[in-house]
Amino acid sequence: MTIKVGLVGLGFMGNGHLRNYLRLQEEGVDVKLVAICDVDPKKRKGALVAGNLPVGVAGDVDFSQFNFYADMADMIAHEDLDYVDLVTPTYTHSPLAVQAMRLGVNVLSEKPMAISSADCAKMIAAAEETGKKVMVAQCLRFHPAYAYVKEAVDSGHYGSVVNASFYRGGTTPRWSWNNWMMQKELAGGCLLDQHIHDVDTINWLFGIPAKVATSGQNVIETSGYDAVSTNYIYPTGGVIQASDNWTINSDDYGFEMRFRVDFEHGSIRYENGKVTDFPYGAASFEPALDENDGYYNEIRFFIDCVQNDRDPQERLPLSSTMTTIQIAEAEVRSADDGGAVAAVTL
Ligand SMILES: NC(=O)c1ccc[n+]([C@@H]2O[C@H](COP(=O)([O-])OP(=O)(O)OC[C@H]3O[C@@H](n4cnc5c(N)ncnc54)[C@H](O)[C@@H]3O)[C@@H](O)[C@H]2O)c1
Repeated sequence: MTIKVGLVGLGFMGNGHLRNYLRLQEEGVDVKLVAICDVDPKKRKGALVAGNLPVGVAGDVDFSQFNFYADMADMIAHEDLDYVDLVTPTYTHSPLAVQAMRLGVNVLSEKPMAISSADCAKMIAAAEETGKKVMVAQCLRFHPAYAYVKEAVDSGHYGSVVNASFYRGGTTPRWSWNNWMMQKELAGGCLLDQHIHDVDTINWLFGIPAKVATSGQNVIETSGYDAVSTNYIYPTGGVIQASDNWTINSDDYGFEMRFRVDFEHGSIRYENGKVTDFPYGAASFEPALDENDGYYNEIRFFIDCVQNDRDPQERLPLSSTMTTIQIAEAEVRSADDGGAVAAVTL
C-alpha cells in the first residue's frame, strides 16, 4: 500500500523533508508525497528557503507533481492522505497536530513537540482520543552518532557515565517566515528551538534529571535565551552538561554539534561529523556507522510504522518528548532566577 503524505510547511526544514521523500521514492520505498500546504503564497510557487544546514539546491525540484494548498484542513479534505508531516512554526505544532488527528490522519511533527508542556498534553490527549499514530521528529534519536552512544549507555559495556557534555551552536536563524523564530513566545529562543535537541538526547540517554541549573543570555531583543548552558542534576550521579549559542554569525560558520561522554572504562566523542571511541587500555577507533542521517531515518521509520500498523510510540513515546519540554521549562525557570537550581516538575 502506497503511503500518501501531505507536507505542511515548505520553509527551510520543509525543504529538507521534501528532499527525503523524493529520495525515498527514488529508492523504491512505497511512499508518495502528494501534496504540500503552506500559508505563504511564495512557497506554493516553489520558493525555497536557505538555512544553516545544506538541505538542497533551489530550482531542481519539479513542483508540478504536487497539489498545493493554503490550508491544512482543505488539503486533508481533498487528498486521501495517510499522514501529514508538520514542518511549521513551533507554536502551530500542537493546534495543527490535534486538528489533523481529528480529521482522521496520522501525524509526524517536527521538534520541539510544542511551545509549552500544556500544548504537548493536548497532543497526547488527541492521540489517545483518536488512536492516530503520532511522532515528534527528534532526529538525534535516529542519528547514527547519537545512537552509537545510546547503545554504550544502555549496554553498560564501559560501565556507568562519569561525565558528559553536549554542544551545538550556529548562525542566527533569520530565514523564518514572518521572523517567527526570533519571537520568544512563538519559538522559545535558542533554548527551546535548538538546545532542545540536546535536552531530548540527555532525557533519552540518562532519564529525567531531578533538577537543572541554567545560565541563559538574551542577545537579540525579542528572541528569549540565545545562549544557554545547563547542568543536569541526577541523584545517582553523572556530571551532565549541555550548552548552545545561536549568535555565532561568522560568514564561514553554519552550524556545529558535538558531544563527549566519559564512562568508567571508556570515552566516546563526536566532533566534526566523526565518532571516535576511546576504550581505556586499548587503542582508539572510529566505528563504522550507518551513513544515513537522522532526518532520513526518522521519516523512514514513521513510514514503516504507518505501512505496517506499528505504533511509533513504542520507540519514541509522546510522554518522553513532552518530558523533554518539561525539562526545558525548568531550564527557563532556572535561567530566569539567575541560574538558581530548579526542580524538573512533570
Ligand atoms: N530537526 C531539525 O534539525 C530542525 C532544523 C530546523 C528547524 N526545525 C523545526 O522545523 C520547524 C520549521 O522551522 P523552519 O526553519 O523550516 O521555519 P520556516 O519559517 O522556514 O518554515 C515554516 C513554514 O511553515 C509555513 N507555515 C506557517 N504557518 C503555517 C500553517 N498554519 N499552515 C501551513 N504552513 C504554515 C510558513 O509559511 C513557512 O514556509 C520548526 O518547528 C523548527 O523548530 C527542525
